[in-house]
Amino acid sequence: MFKIQIMPSLLAAPMGRLEEAAQRSEEAGADGLHIDIMDGHFVRNLSMGPDVVRMARKAVQIPLNVHLMVSRPDWYIEPFLQAGASTVLFHIETECDPAPLLAQIRKAGRRAGITLNPETPLEAILPLRGLVDEILCMTVHPGFGGQKFIAEVLPKIAECRRQFPDVDISVDGGLDAQSAPLAAEQGGNIFLIGSTLFQAPDMKKAIQDLRTHAEAVFSKAIQ
Ligand code: DX5
Ligand code: ZN
Repeated sequence: MFKIQIMPSLLAAPMGRLEEAAQRSEEAGADGLHIDIMDGHFVRNLSMGPDVVRMARKAVQIPLNVHLMVSRPDWYIEPFLQAGASTVLFHIETECDPAPLLAQIRKAGRRAGITLNPETPLEAILPLRGLVDEILCMTVHPGFGGQKFIAEVLPKIAECRRQFPDVDISVDGGLDAQSAPLAAEQGGNIFLIGSTLFQAPDMKKAIQDLRTHAEAVFSKAIQ
């Protein structure tokens, strides 16, 4: 029932050629585009805003998976819905009450997602059963691309799959040909990948290979 999905993260694309990078991803067979939004407060970096999402919405047909690394998701959900986000993910570690925000996203007809930092236990989101379409388990500390995969998160992905058997589980950070299958083995089915895909000599082949490996191990995870 779950589809393995591979989504390039625009953070790793050349900043002066984001439109071309979005189109290149779509042509390479990506299932969606991951767009990282950082506010310089929730994380110690700044990245993109709604205009980049608006640009991507015009440039490609594939879903736009928008990851809000911001302290006040309540301020920013509406502008990103307006800009054309297909899925909006925000962090459980913010001070905001998550349930009304998830409802706001769903009311707009989009997919609602919650994100957990590597150290955040799954218990933090158990009250959100029935309210989320996607759970993102970070496998690096958010803020920067190109970091090393934190393998200690793997048991949490497995527990997440047990607790949320009907929800898409995405994984973000440090994914490559070695780490992505490890996450798929635990039940992750959406892979958000920056450096590995944008540095690959052939993005299409890289996506195909990652998909084939993830599919091969994923079926065992949900049995
Ligand atoms: C990290 C971002 C990730 C990042 C992944 O804060 O949320 O989406 O772009 O990049 P790689 O795949 O290079 O770790
Ligand atoms: Zn991300």
